[in-house]
Amino acid sequence: MRTDYCGAIDRRFLGQTVTLQGWAHRRRDHGGVIFIDLRDREGLVQIVSDPDNVATFAVAESVRTEFVLQIVGRVRLRPEGTVNGALRSGEIEVLADSIEVLNPSLTPPFQMDEDNLSETVRLTYRYLDLRRPAMQRNFRLRYKASMVVRQFLDSHGFIDIETPMLTKSTPEGARDYLVPSRVHDGQFFALPQSPQLFKQLLMVAGFDRYYQITKCFRDEDLRADRQPEFTQIDIETSFMDEHDITGLMEQLVRDLFKQVIDADLPAEFPRMTWHEAMHRFGSDKPDLRIPLEFTELTDLMKTVDFKVFRGAADLANGRVAALRVPGGATISRKEIDDYTTFVGIYGAKGLAYIKVNDVTKVDETGLQSPIVKFLPAPVLAEILQRTGAQDGDLIFFAADTFKVVCDSLGALRLKVGHERGFSTGGWKPLWVVDFPMFEYDEDDKRWVALHHPFTAPKAGHEGYVESDPGKAVARAYDVVLNGWEIGGGSVRIHREEVQSAVFRALNIGPEEAKAKFGFLLDALQYGAPPHGGIAFGFDRLTSMMCGVEQIRDVIAFPKTQRAQCMLTDAPSPVDEKQLRELHIKLR
Ligand code: AMO
Ligand code: AMP
Repeated sequence: MRTDYCGAIDRRFLGQTVTLQGWAHRRRDHGGVIFIDLRDREGLVQIVSDPDNVATFAVAESVRTEFVLQIVGRVRLRPEGTVNGALRSGEIEVLADSIEVLNPSLTPPFQMDEDNLSETVRLTYRYLDLRRPAMQRNFRLRYKASMVVRQFLDSHGFIDIETPMLTKSTPEGARDYLVPSRVHDGQFFALPQSPQLFKQLLMVAGFDRYYQITKCFRDEDLRADRQPEFTQIDIETSFMDEHDITGLMEQLVRDLFKQVIDADLPAEFPRMTWHEAMHRFGSDKPDLRIPLEFTELTDLMKTVDFKVFRGAADLANGRVAALRVPGGATISRKEIDDYTTFVGIYGAKGLAYIKVNDVTKVDETGLQSPIVKFLPAPVLAEILQRTGAQDGDLIFFAADTFKVVCDSLGALRLKVGHERGFSTGGWKPLWVVDFPMFEYDEDDKRWVALHHPFTAPKAGHEGYVESDPGKAVARAYDVVLNGWEIGGGSVRIHREEVQSAVFRALNIGPEEAKAKFGFLLDALQYGAPPHGGIAFGFDRLTSMMCGVEQIRDVIAFPKTQRAQCMLTDAPSPVDEKQLRELHIKLR
């Protein structure tokens, strides 16, 4: 059988007879001689079939792309001028003694070295898509990453414990994937959105340090960085505070990037409060590769008559902010119109701007803008001063609710930053800390947990939980890398009375709390240790290390944007009999 991998054959094999098995990547007929690039997971090697060997040559002629072949041949140097420096096997070729077709192939829908394939075709023929060298590389990197994580956590005393996939539906998260129970008429399991409560119970059980690399399921709107089932590196510890946890966890991230892609992340990740992140960047996951920052103008705009700005500044939850783009005066009218349409996606009703032609002339002669005429000179001077504007800059303005300003101007910051070459590149990690415990849900007219309802309030903030929920700050931390939230966690509530207070703040009554979370409230009363943890998005981490833009490229069999599996055609209807067993009647 096989003696070696195709991609491993090089000069050292000169003169040896090897037996190789793999796929016909390409076949070239050079009038008289046939070349086959034979591919396996390690790479390519060039096979030569000479017409003198009549039987073998006849087989070589029949070979088509993606046929599975076994080839016995002798390794020899390639003729001068035909060396391929891009391949490990590029100096040699294998002269075939025999070629056997182990399995033919239909003509594949695409070549394994084609780029720019449609996502639909790739996902429908995923087993072929995964044959492509770029994809093979992604999955080997993913595996390596999981090994590094396991080794790191193992060496720090963490143990892997599995938690259930069939579990209880609980409110306060994303939408659940439900699984009907056959045995219990009308009752449902939910697939876990995360092992959160189980890992906390493992701390109550005294395991001290737990981890799991595990699937989580969330029925939410999909994006490039979101899948309905995805993988977390889930971690929980006892008797460690946020300082110890984040310290150890950033060491894990540094180790991972060093060992997997030889990248050096900073020796200490910077920290920023949620408040500062929102004010400077309009985002709780700022991409620090882009040096552009917001300038706060809300206070200043409370003094002007210009309705667009004044109206927003006077709102209880309003904000007016500016974004200075150095050298942005070259941005054309058409581009500004496009940016205006772009911020509209995030709810902005317009995009005011000032082109700074001459910073010393604080009127329409020095400042080119549709809004300058509405703003008094001292206010304009203050804007220039606060933004630090120079000749040749452009200043964008957003005025709306805090959320719309952050979302729209934050997205514009990223777009302009990347499109106009402001990004510094490199790896820019960041801890975002001091998140609010709650945010107000305008649709539901109630407070909801910003992270999850098991997050502990900061010392001294316990009282706010019920008296002034908007003021309570959580012992939560997110880790952000180049604008992606790669992980998030917190110190948890370990006392029943605090947990019950949080449920009350969330408008979960005692009956409901008992029905939905009774097991947790009970467990907290049997000697629950102080505990806390984190979960990393393993697909996101892997994507970043692979340099791909969407997590689908590091998930072997992902779902489409519409949450379907193109390969198996799931979800799909089921038999009437199956439904009957599950006590389900379709509407
Ligand atoms: P959280 O909901 O922040 O925290 O999830 C942790 C990390 O998982 C990743 N992630 C996702 N990746 C791909 N597709 C998705 N749909 C998706 N949703 C989340 C993100 C995120 O940072 N139990 C808590 C963790 C804890 O407190 O310990 C939790 O699940 O990278
Ligand atoms: P208008 O008075 O509506 O013509 O708006 C004057 C300028 O302000 C235009 O450049 C608009 O794009 C801009 N604008 C309108 N609404 C907003 C807003 N909410 N935030 C920022 N700029 C706005």
